[in-house]
Order: sequence, then C-alpha cells, then structure tokens
Amino acid sequence: MSAASTTTGRVLSGMRPTGALHLGNYHGALKNWIELQYQHECYFFVADIHALTTGYEDTSSLNDYVWEMVIDWLAAGINPSTATLFIQSRVPEHSELHLLLSMITPLGWLERVPTYKDQQDQLRDKDLATYGFLGYPLLQSADILLYKPTLIPVGEDQVAHVEITREVARRFNHVYGKEPDFELKVEKALKSLGSRNSTRYNELRRLYQEQGDAEALTKARTILDGNARLTLADRERLLGYLEGTGRSILVEPDALLTATPKVPGLDGRKMSKSYANTIGLREDPDIVAKKIKTMQTDPARVRRNDPGDPEKCPVWHLHKIYSDAETQAWVQQGCRTAGIGCLDCKKRLADSVVAEISVIRERAREFEQNRDLVRGIIADGCARARDVARQTLEEVHQAMGMNYR
Ligand code: TRP
Ligand code: SF4
Repeated sequence: MSAASTTTGRVLSGMRPTGALHLGNYHGALKNWIELQYQHECYFFVADIHALTTGYEDTSSLNDYVWEMVIDWLAAGINPSTATLFIQSRVPEHSELHLLLSMITPLGWLERVPTYKDQQDQLRDKDLATYGFLGYPLLQSADILLYKPTLIPVGEDQVAHVEITREVARRFNHVYGKEPDFELKVEKALKSLGSRNSTRYNELRRLYQEQGDAEALTKARTILDGNARLTLADRERLLGYLEGTGRSILVEPDALLTATPKVPGLDGRKMSKSYANTIGLREDPDIVAKKIKTMQTDPARVRRNDPGDPEKCPVWHLHKIYSDAETQAWVQQGCRTAGIGCLDCKKRLADSVVAEISVIRERAREFEQNRDLVRGIIADGCARARDVARQTLEEVHQAMGMNYR
C-alpha cells in the first residue's frame, strides 16, 4: 500500500477514443467503472492525447470517436452526477505536468516499459519512433498524479504504467520534497498530533527506519490517518518524515486489477478492434445476430451429430458471460451429446446479447438526440477536473521553485 491510500478513496481511469466500444471494452473495463462509481469518488476521462501517440497521422475521426465513446459510457450506465467525466486535452494541466515530469524521468525507465517495444512490434505499419510515443507512460503518470487517486482500475497490460507512475512520484518527492524549513514544519505538525500520539509516532518511526519494521510503518500511518486535527499538508509532511523521503507532494497510487471475463471475438481470439472480430455495444440487433451466426465453433463439430467440446468454442465462452445457469447446462449437455445444433446454441446466445444491447441502444438514443446535454456533461466534468488538477499543479510549481512572485 502506498502512503496516500490512507488519505482518500479516489479512483481515476482513462480510455483511448478508438471508436464505438465493443463487448470486450464493456465487460473488460466499463462495467467495472460503473460499479466503482458508487463506491468511490471517480474521475473517468477520454485519453485523446494518448490516442495521438499512435494515431497522429489521421485525426479525421478523432472528434467522432471522442463523442461516441462518451455516449457509450453514459448509455452503459456511467452516471455523470456521481462520476466526473472529462476529456484529457481539455484539462491542459495534463500536458504541463507531463512536461515538468519529463525533466526528472530517466530515458531508461521509459525504454524499459514492456509496452514500448511490444507496441512498436505490433504496429509495424506505423512509425512509432517518436518522442511522444516514448513518453506514453509518462503522460499516463501525469494523468494519474494530478488527481492524487488511490486506485487505478486498469487491465493487466497497464500495470507497468502504474508502476512507473509510482517511481516517478517517488523521484519527484525525493528531488523536490525537501522544504527549506522541513524539520521545523515537522516539529509543528507533531505538536498538532498531541503528545501521546506524537511520542507513539516517533517510536514507530524509529522502529521502521532502524529495523525496517513494516508493521510499525502501517501503525504510524494509522495514527496520521485517524487524526482530524492534521492539515493535509502536515499529514503529507509527517508521511514523508516517516518514510524518510521528505514531504510527499505527489502520491503513489495502486493498480486495481479486477477479475473480468475474457471476451472472445467472432474468430475466437480476444475481442479487439485491430482483429476486426468485434460486436459493438450499440450494434444493430440484426447484424449482431448475423455476426454470432458466423462465429467459430469447436472445429471437431463438423456435422450436426458430431459431439463437441464447449471449452474449445468461443460461443460457449460468451454463454458464460451472457446466459443463466439453466441455459449454460443446456449448452454443456447438448453440445457434448450432439443433442443441440450450433445454430440453436447461437440463437440463444444472440437473444441474450441483443437483449443487453437493446437497453444500451435505447439509452444512447436519448444522448444522440441531445448533443448539448452530452457537451454540458463534459464541460461540467472538465471544470471539476481542472479544479483538482490546478491545485496539484500549484503544489508542483511551489515544490519546484516556480511560484514566482
Ligand atoms: N493507457 C490506458 C489504456 O490504453 C489509457 C490511459 C491513459 C489511462 N491515461 C490513463 C488509464 C490513466 C488509467 C489511468 O488503456
Ligand atoms: Fe459451440 Fe454451442 Fe456448437 Fe457446442 S453447440 S460447438 S458450444 S456453438
């Protein structure tokens, strides 16, 4: 756990606008966001600058993609009165923090992030030997650190980016966390803690610093956490003093990995826009039914009376997401005994998928027909996000000696 996870329960995540979302995006991330918004203070944003790192050449669809994605979020159940929704580039603090952090980020850290080489290999048709692409994870660090969130819900592939964010925060605090009168301010802060608590804090700090006692660290954090008389700045000073880093200005977040179902695409590979094997979250029901009809099945089921193995069939893996226990038993039994045909099996699946999609389509229509409402939601979210971001950037300026007056 990072030092800051004791202070807030804020969640932040972003998605690149790659066009209309598909069922893989929905079950892989969006559904999780919808749950989180009722448990935490949530910030969700459209990572449009990140889209430019690989899609800089053709930006003609960017505008559509951004709004389509926002409508997808809203239609799927993201609630703008609970979560703050915004567009990355509309909060220019993201760009500024990225630039400032770039001054203290060693090139090697960025070159070593696994996605750097992987993506370059995967997207061979694009020239990704750019400054911006190398900086992708650092821009993500800026996205995160601006909001001092505790939890970052991301997929497996993004964990390395959260890890580098933690390293950047640590380095920033190490380099700039030393206020000239730090010790004096710590002493003052200890006073507001009360004498019993401050004695205890000092004991625990010694145990941690001299013997590396992790339990003492946790206990000391609890003292700070539970103390309403501490200002936020003083709490950060005492956290920094505790760990020997100086004041922690930027806060280390944790990745939140939630178990999500693997969503197979039409060809059995992972559902992904780049494989052209997707079912759209708002796709026309007839097309959905047609697409499911053409899905790969267990290759061993050539004829109607060949038995099959659902485990080898992507249709089954979608049934696991979409069907109730009774239908699932029907598939298992019917497939293994050749009691049902693949078309029957697919028909049932298509019915459930269409039922879910229809609800989302219905809600999306409302937003499509009221673009001003959507624009208003985003304008509102951008303003709220900016308030938080500006505050952090002010602290960053101050720590870096840039608050000229
Ligand atoms: N890189 C993320 C992705 O491709 C999107 C993203 C950008 C993000 N900034 C972020 C996710 C900050 C979480 C936090 O999925
Ligand atoms: Fe797949 Fe269903 Fe056909 Fe079995 S019956 S192979 S699970 S489509």
